[in-house]
Amino acid sequence: MKKRVAIIGAGQVAETVHASYYQTREELELAAVCDPNLERANEFARENGFLAAYDDAKTMFQREAIDIVSICTPNRFHFENVMLALQNGAHVMCEKPPAMTPEEAEQMAGEAASRGLVLAYDFHHRFSNEARFLKKEKARLGDIYVTRAQALRRSGVPGWGTFTNKEIQGGGPLIDIGIHMLDVAMYVLGFPKVKRVMAKSFQKIGTKKSMGSFGSWDPLKFTVEDALFGWIEFENGHILELETSFALHMKENRIFNVSFFGDEAGGTLYPAEIFTDNDGDLEMLKAPGFIEEDSHSASMAAFVEKVLFDRGDVATGEEGLIIQRLVAALYESAEKEACVYL
Ligand SMILES: NC(=O)c1ccc[n+]([C@@H]2O[C@H](COP(=O)([O-])OP(=O)(O)OC[C@H]3O[C@@H](n4cnc5c(N)ncnc54)[C@H](O)[C@@H]3O)[C@@H](O)[C@H]2O)c1
Repeated sequence: MKKRVAIIGAGQVAETVHASYYQTREELELAAVCDPNLERANEFARENGFLAAYDDAKTMFQREAIDIVSICTPNRFHFENVMLALQNGAHVMCEKPPAMTPEEAEQMAGEAASRGLVLAYDFHHRFSNEARFLKKEKARLGDIYVTRAQALRRSGVPGWGTFTNKEIQGGGPLIDIGIHMLDVAMYVLGFPKVKRVMAKSFQKIGTKKSMGSFGSWDPLKFTVEDALFGWIEFENGHILELETSFALHMKENRIFNVSFFGDEAGGTLYPAEIFTDNDGDLEMLKAPGFIEEDSHSASMAAFVEKVLFDRGDVATGEEGLIIQRLVAALYESAEKEACVYL
């Protein structure tokens, strides 16, 4: 029997990532889609081959037997929809960030664990070939004592959706894009225990301008940070620096990368390279013969494989909670202008 899939939140990521992956799996039936905008839900169902459309998730679960749900709503609605899906016995793939607060992320992880259901987050960069290569070859770097994670856009304030609204998103570039590089850095490092966190955030461009490379926004309604710079110290004394922005007057249009600095060698994620010196001769190890792989579909595949065959790894509820705690601590530190101990 085919597993019945539903999507809650019929926006762009639902269409380009979730529906388009589910369509490739013959073990799945595209059962229903839900969006408060019923016209949008109907259009999405028609265009992506879903059997039914709803404007209310509770009604959807009352009428449909659903095995798998993707949560693709704005951040504020992740928690209620993940809980609803789990309580209706469905495995869940939730878009990042997990939720708005660590308390919510903790409840979500607990609910999934107590019901024996898969809860996965779409932290897709860790499913890239590059991240897998670095994870596998990490020992070559020796003791990695400094890590730099960057998710920087030069003129990339999102001009669509609700990404500049703190009430609905929980924050700006940190919770939206910085979180991706934070996750992949922590994944490669093996989720070391965090000791303390410091951060400074800025609102210098989003409230002043109304137009950028990603469209226009209302500067009067720009309530998130437009850049945040953070510093995380682990219990082992090593550090992770994080730089993230929607808009920063830098030369490059976009820098999404993680650099790892060890006492034997260093490495970067994009491209995946490891470099060191041999008594003064510089050496470089490049990841062998990469084929451009879509890390989004690798992340979706990992989730579906876990649900159908209980094999492989996903970005789990527990790991999502660790990342959510870090995001909250970085925001708290920036707000209080103080070091936050975890
Ligand atoms: N993993 C990634 O790289 C990635 C990329 C893009 C977006 N995202 C995440 O996906 C989520 C959605 O982003 P998007 O770009 O698709 O946004 P979007 O604005 O295109 O779509 C959001 C959809 O959710 C619907 N919606 C709003 N409130 C809802 C509710 N209470 N219940 C159900 N549906 C509701 C909206 O009507 C809209 O159709 C966000 O959490 C975002 O952070 C992740």
